[in-house]
Amino acid sequence: NTIYLEDYQPPAWLISHTKLRFELEEEQTLVRAQLSIQSNPAARDKRMPLELFGDEGMELCRLSIDGQILEACDYQREAGYLRINNVPDTFVLECVTRLLPHENTTLEGLYKSDGMFCTQCEAEGFRRITFFPDRPDVMSVFSTTLVADKCLYPVLLSNGNPVDSGEDDDGRHWVTWDDPWPKPSYLFALVAGDLALLEDSFTTLSGREVALRIYAERKDLDKLDYAMQSLKNAMRWDEEVYGREYDLDIYMIVAVDFFNMGAMENKGLNIFNTSCVLAHPLTTTDQGFQRVEAVVAHEYFHNWSGNRVTCRDWFQLSLKEGFTVFRDAEFSADMNSRTVKRIEDVTLLRTAQFAEDSSPMAHPVRPESYMEISNFYTLTVYEKGAEVVRMLHTLLGAELFRQGSDLYFERHDGQAVTTDDFVAAMETVSGRDLTQFKRWYSQAGTPRLQVSDQYDARACEYRLTVRQSCPPSPGQDHKQPYHLPLALGLVAEDGTELYAGLLELTGEEQEFCFDNIKQCPVPSLLRGFSAPVKLEYDYSDAQLLMLLRHDTDGFNRWDAGQRLSIRLLQEQMQRYRDGQPMVCSEALIEAWRQLLNDTALDPAMLAQCLRLPSEAQLSELAEQIDVAAIHAAREFMRTSLAAALEQEWLQAYQRCDTNELYAPDADAVGRRSLKNLALAYLVATEREPWLALARQQYQQSDNMTDQLAAFALVAHSDDRETAEELLQAFYQQWQHESLVMNQWLSVQASDPRDGALERVVALAQHPVFDMRNPNKLRALIGAFCGQNAQHFHAEDGSGYAWLAGWILQLDQQNPQIAARLLTPLTRWKRYDPVRAGQMQVQLQRMMDTTELSADVYEVVSKSLM
Ligand code: ARG
Ligand code: ZN
Repeated sequence: NTIYLEDYQPPAWLISHTKLRFELEEEQTLVRAQLSIQSNPAARDKRMPLELFGDEGMELCRLSIDGQILEACDYQREAGYLRINNVPDTFVLECVTRLLPHENTTLEGLYKSDGMFCTQCEAEGFRRITFFPDRPDVMSVFSTTLVADKCLYPVLLSNGNPVDSGEDDDGRHWVTWDDPWPKPSYLFALVAGDLALLEDSFTTLSGREVALRIYAERKDLDKLDYAMQSLKNAMRWDEEVYGREYDLDIYMIVAVDFFNMGAMENKGLNIFNTSCVLAHPLTTTDQGFQRVEAVVAHEYFHNWSGNRVTCRDWFQLSLKEGFTVFRDAEFSADMNSRTVKRIEDVTLLRTAQFAEDSSPMAHPVRPESYMEISNFYTLTVYEKGAEVVRMLHTLLGAELFRQGSDLYFERHDGQAVTTDDFVAAMETVSGRDLTQFKRWYSQAGTPRLQVSDQYDARACEYRLTVRQSCPPSPGQDHKQPYHLPLALGLVAEDGTELYAGLLELTGEEQEFCFDNIKQCPVPSLLRGFSAPVKLEYDYSDAQLLMLLRHDTDGFNRWDAGQRLSIRLLQEQMQRYRDGQPMVCSEALIEAWRQLLNDTALDPAMLAQCLRLPSEAQLSELAEQIDVAAIHAAREFMRTSLAAALEQEWLQAYQRCDTNELYAPDADAVGRRSLKNLALAYLVATEREPWLALARQQYQQSDNMTDQLAAFALVAHSDDRETAEELLQAFYQQWQHESLVMNQWLSVQASDPRDGALERVVALAQHPVFDMRNPNKLRALIGAFCGQNAQHFHAEDGSGYAWLAGWILQLDQQNPQIAARLLTPLTRWKRYDPVRAGQMQVQLQRMMDTTELSADVYEVVSKSLM
C-alpha cells in the first residue's frame, strides 16, 4: 500500500470552517464535528464523491448533511475511509464519533498522558479523532469547544484564543477556543488536565502583547524558567534575523511525559515531550538545557516555517523541517558557541544520517514514495534537509537568502506549498538557475568528493582537481552531479593563510587554478562543512597536525584532528585483526599535549578536539563493521592517551573545576565538558585516586551535568562495591524524577562490562521502567542497542533476538516507536556474515508475523529487499 509523489492530486473538497465539540469523560470522549464543505474549483474532476479519512478503530455514532441524518446505505466505510456519494456543492457535514482515549497506547490522535488529555495529530493523527480530509493542503479555520469535569480538568486548552466559557450544573465546565488562522488538521491540538502554569509576556516589534504560558504537572513548575527564557529569545531572534513576528495573543506550551517524538508545533499550543521542555540545574544536564533551548526555538520557528506556510503533501516534509532545523541551528549558534554547535551537528550527520543514507531505508530529502509517513521523520528529512537549506544560504549569501526567505513567506502566506516553491523564491531574488541544485532534494545517498592537487613552484600556480560521485541507493542506480559550495582555504606550512574563498562545484570533475601562490599550500577543504559530503584528500599526518594547530576555520581545525585520530584508529583496528600489538602514535600524544597545555584555547573547543570519534562513527566509516576491532582499537587509544597525558588531564580538570554557580551558558558548559572529559580520561588510567575523585565529584556536585558524568564513570567501573552503592544512592535520590530515572536506565544499559544483556533484561522488570512510555523505551532499549554495540552485536544473536521480541510486543501498542527502535537491525548488510545472518533471522521472524503495523512492515520489508 504505497503512496507516490507523482500521484498527487489537489483535494476535491475544501473545508472553510471546522467546528469541534469534545465531551471528555473517563470512559469515553464524544466528538461532534461540523465541517463547512465546498467543492474545490481547482480540482480536476467535478462531482467527485466526498472521501474522508477515518481510523478503523473509531466508532461513528451519527452522520448528517445539512441536518439530514444519513442512513448506513448513504455512505460506505472501508479501511481507513468514509465515502459519501451525491453530495451538494456546498454543505455542512456533521459527524459524531466516540473515542477511547484512555485505551489509546499509540500516542497518536487523542490520548491520555499521566491523567491529562492531549493530542498528537502530525502527520495523520487527526483521522483518529474524526472523519476529515486529513491532508495538509486542506486548511480551515477551527473553532473548538472542550467540555470536561471541572475538578479533574480545570485547564482546557486548544488552538487560538479563548472566546467563551461557562459551567454546567453537573460539575462540568467548558471553554471555546477560536483560531483565526486557517490551518491543516495536523496542527490541531487540545489539552485538558490539572496543570500548573508559568506565565510571562512578550511584546512584539510592532507592539503586540503576547501572553506566554507554559503548562506542566505541578511538581515540575520549578523546571520551566529556562524554556520560558528560550522562548523569549527565540521570538526576538526571529524578528531580528528573519523579520517574523508572532500572530496570536497567546502562545502556549504544554509538557507531557508520554510523547513519541520531541515536540509538536500545533498552532498557538505546542505540546512537548517533558524531556524537551523541563530543565533545572539539579536534574538536567548541560546537553539537556541546550536541547530545551533548541526545541523550544524549533517549535516556535515553525509558526512561520510550517504553520503560516505549510506543506502541500507529506513528501514536502523537509520544506518545513529542513528549513526549521536550519533556523534553530543558527539560533543556537548565535546563543552559544557557533563552532561547537556546528561540530555537534556535523557529528550527528556523519554518524547517523550518513548511516541512514547508505541503508535500505535511504531516501531523498524529498522522498518519492512511502507506505507510512511516520517512518520519514528522519535524519535525512530533518538534518540533511537543513544542510540543503544551509547550502542555499552559503551559495546566495546571508543578504540574498534573507530576501529569498521574505519573498517565500510573502508569496505563500496561508498556502500549502512544495520544496520547489522554496527554491523558486531563492531563484527569483538571486537571478540564479538552481535547477541542478534541486538534485539535493531528489537524489538519495551521500556524495563523495575526491580531491587532488598540484603545485608549480616556478609558476606560483596551485591546481585543485575535484571529482564528485554518489553511490547507488534504493531505486536510484545512477546519480547526476550535484551543485555544491566548496569553502576553501589555502594554508602555508607555517600556518599563514594564502587564500580563502568559496568554490562552486557543478561538474563531475572540475579543476580550479590559483595564481600567485608563493608557497606550496595545504588545502583546508570544505570549511565549516560547506556541503554534506564525504571528502577524500590524501593528507599527511604532518599536514593534519598543522591544520589542527593553525587553520583559521575552527570547524576544520577540529576536523583535521578527527581525520588524524580516525586514521590512527583504523591502523590499530588492522593491527588488532592481524594479531599484532597496537601502538599509540607519539605525534598524536604530543599534539594533544600541546593542545592541553595551551590555556588560551576555549575549553569547549578543546574538549571537542580531545574526544575520539565514537564507535558509531567508526562503524559508519568501515567497509565492513568489525565490532570487536573498533571497540578494542578505540579503548586502546583512549587508555593510552589517558596514561600518557595523566598530568595534563589532571591540570585541565583542576583548571575547569571552578566554584562558580551553575549556569548553562556556553562558557560554563564548555568548562564542564572539558572537566568531565578529563575526569573520564583520568578514570580510564585505572589508577586508584581517580575513581575516588569521580566519587567525590558525584557527592559534591550541585548540578546534574557533573553528577551524572561522575555517576556513569563509577557505575561502569570494576569497583563493584562502590558502583552498586552509587547506583542505589542515585536511585534513592531521584526515583521521583522521571527524566532523571531515564538517565539511570541509560547509564546501566550502556555499561560495557560483561553481562549487559542480563542487566537490561532485569531492568525491564524494574518498577521505574514503563513499556508504554517512549522515553523509558529509548532510555533502556534504545541505549542498549545504540550505545552498547559490543553486547547488542553479541555473536550468538542474543541481542538481536531480544530487540526483535520487544519490537513485536511494542508493535501491538505503539507502531511508531516499534518502527523507530527497529533501526539498528536494518543495518545488517554492513556486518560480517555471521552477524548479518543473525540479524536477518530476526527480520524474517518479524516478517513472518501476521498483523504487523504498516510502520514496522515498511521498515522490515524494505530492509530485507
Ligand atoms: N513536527 C514535529 C517537529 O519536528 C515532529 C512531530 C512528528 N510527529 C510524528 N508523530 N511523526 O517539531
Ligand atoms: Zn519540526
